[in-house]
Amino acid sequence: MAYERALLKLSGEALMGDKPYGIDPAIVQSISEDVARVVSNGTQLAIVVGGGNIFRGLKGSAAGMDRATADYVGMLATVMNAISLQDGLERAGVPTRVQTAIEMKEVAEPYIRRKAIRHLEKGRVVVFGGGCGNPFFTTDTTAALRAAEINANVVFKATKVDGVYDQDPKEFPNAIRYEDLTFQEVLSSELGVMDSTSIALCKDNNIPIVVFNLFEPGNIAKAIAGEKVGTRIGNANCK
Ligand code: GTP
Repeated sequence: MAYERALLKLSGEALMGDKPYGIDPAIVQSISEDVARVVSNGTQLAIVVGGGNIFRGLKGSAAGMDRATADYVGMLATVMNAISLQDGLERAGVPTRVQTAIEMKEVAEPYIRRKAIRHLEKGRVVVFGGGCGNPFFTTDTTAALRAAEINANVVFKATKVDGVYDQDPKEFPNAIRYEDLTFQEVLSSELGVMDSTSIALCKDNNIPIVVFNLFEPGNIAKAIAGEKVGTRIGNANCK
């Protein structure tokens, strides 16, 4: 079954390609073209983008910065990514609106839930920048929160690996990939897919999460079409 409204979580690192830091416009363009193909079939898509390619709040605080301050710097980094993604998406012909959780009107619209839903209904991709506007929350949690707010049917967590493994597949070649997991299994394990706040939010709102490799061509389209791709995390009754 194809999903009607999906929330795609893109990590900031996804935008840097092979570069050690920052934004690779060629990668942004190729992700945008993938997105253009999937939204042309009518799926409503919102995107939450991380900021780890520019600044990661947790790393800043580990290096001695005040945690809340470091998180705000990280939130600003996600806005740079959101605007870059809008540029790529519009060059790929996708009408896009950026909304930021921290108001900066000269740069983008402020986050207004009902306006975001209207944009989606009109076939625009909505990119949410600025995290959820609060320190101590990750962009994964923002993805879960926005998905619940806009009544998305699913959260897609697009990463560099093709799903959730029982151990790090780069270190352990015999690592086993899970096809399905329950929220409870993820919460009570050390799998480290997403932080527990985001998993708990999706669990409570019964929004499944699909974890898949962003760089496998056609994966976003497959995931939106409801085909088996990566690992699906859901409540036990829909496993
Ligand atoms: P409709 O209401 O469906 O017509 O949506 P719309 O987004 O096309 O209309 P609107 O007139 O609100 O926006 C026109 C353009 O201005 C869009 O590209 C918006 O993203 C942008 N825009 C709207 N509000 C703001 C804002 O507060 N700040 C910034 N920077 N841009 C905005």
